[in-house]
This record gives sequence, C-alpha cells and structure tokens, in this order.
Amino acid sequence: MILPNGMDLTPDYEENGRWYNADGIPVPKIAEDGMVDYATFSGYRRYHAECHVCHGPDGEGSTYAPALKNSVLRIDYYDYQEIVASGKQNTGSGSANQVMPAFGTNPNVWCYVDDIYVYLLAHGTDMIPRGRPANKAEKSEAFAEQEDSCMSM
Ligand code: HEC
Repeated sequence: MILPNGMDLTPDYEENGRWYNADGIPVPKIAEDGMVDYATFSGYRRYHAECHVCHGPDGEGSTYAPALKNSVLRIDYYDYQEIVASGKQNTGSGSANQVMPAFGTNPNVWCYVDDIYVYLLAHGTDMIPRGRPANKAEKSEAFAEQEDSCMSM
C-alpha cells in the first residue's frame, strides 16, 4: 500500500523486533488473520498512556488536538518525529493557544515513538479497527533488549 504522501507501507525487513519498509521507515505488519506485530500493539498501549488525553482514543482526534490517525497519512515520518521530540504551538491568532508538548527527553514516549507511529498508520489505513488489538505477536527477545537499553539511557 502507498500512502498519499508517497510512503510505501510494505514491510521489507525486521530489525530489533520492529518492521521497516525498504527505505528504513518503521511500518506495521498485520497478518491476514488480523494479528498485529508486537510494535503495533506496543504503540496502541503507549498511545493510550501518553497521547489520548489530548488526541482522543484511537487517534481519532478531539476538540483540542488533531486526529493523529489522519496526520500520519499526510506528514512524513521525519516530521512526525520532529513534532513529538520538540513539540508544536499553534500561534494562529483568534483561537486559544493549543500546545503540543515536547517529548524528546521522556523515555516513556521516546523509546516507543516508532511504535506509536506504526500503530497510528495501522489504524489510519484501516488495517486494524478501533480498540485494543485482540491478537498480537509475542514480544521478541530483540525487542525486549532494545527496549531495556533505551529505557536505561
Ligand atoms: C497536552 C495535550 C497533548 C498531548 C498529551 C499530546 N499532544 Fe500532540 N498535539 C497537541 C496539540 C494541541 C497539537 C496541535 C498543535 C498545533 O497545530 O500547533 C498537537 C499536534 C501533534 C502532531 C502534529 C499533527 C498534525 O496534523 O500536524 C503530532 C504528530 C502529535 N501531536 C503527536 C503526539 C503524540 C505521538 C503524542 C503522545 C506521545 C502527543 N501528540 C501528545 C496536544 C497534545
């Protein structure tokens, strides 16, 4: 599947328990029977721990912050990373200031920034429905090792 922004969602290789396309951009890997890769499941959990208060359940958006399931189809991976790391402030006149906090130094977000991204891609393209994925792959040793080393930095 190719997104409107030109990104190819085809999983090409696995590294440290996460899937990437041929350009090295993280992508979800959803099996025919709906089983999600562990990173997509991890992203679901982290999204609902750190982002949903503002962006709404399942990335569907709220009156305060945009629907991220749509944002990730439009902005590219590097813009997504930049916004999550550094935050963003809507300075448009007239409306109340809406602030996207910076999460670049928060390991509970930053160690999972790619997982949240692939989860949003999977839901934004309707590869998975709303809600907690019912069926997920096991957490691999490689994933657990990468997670431990990131969280202890
Ligand atoms: C305190 C509320 C709040 C939290 C928590 C929050 N955001 Fe945001 N976010 C916002 C607001 C408000 C905007 C819109 C800012 C603007 O347009 O200037 C935004 C914008 C964004 C954008 C840009 C969307 C677009 O369409 O341009 C991304 C990407 C994003 N947030 C990701 C995240 C992620 C990932 C998390 C969880 C780790 C998160 N946000 C948590 C309030 C929040």
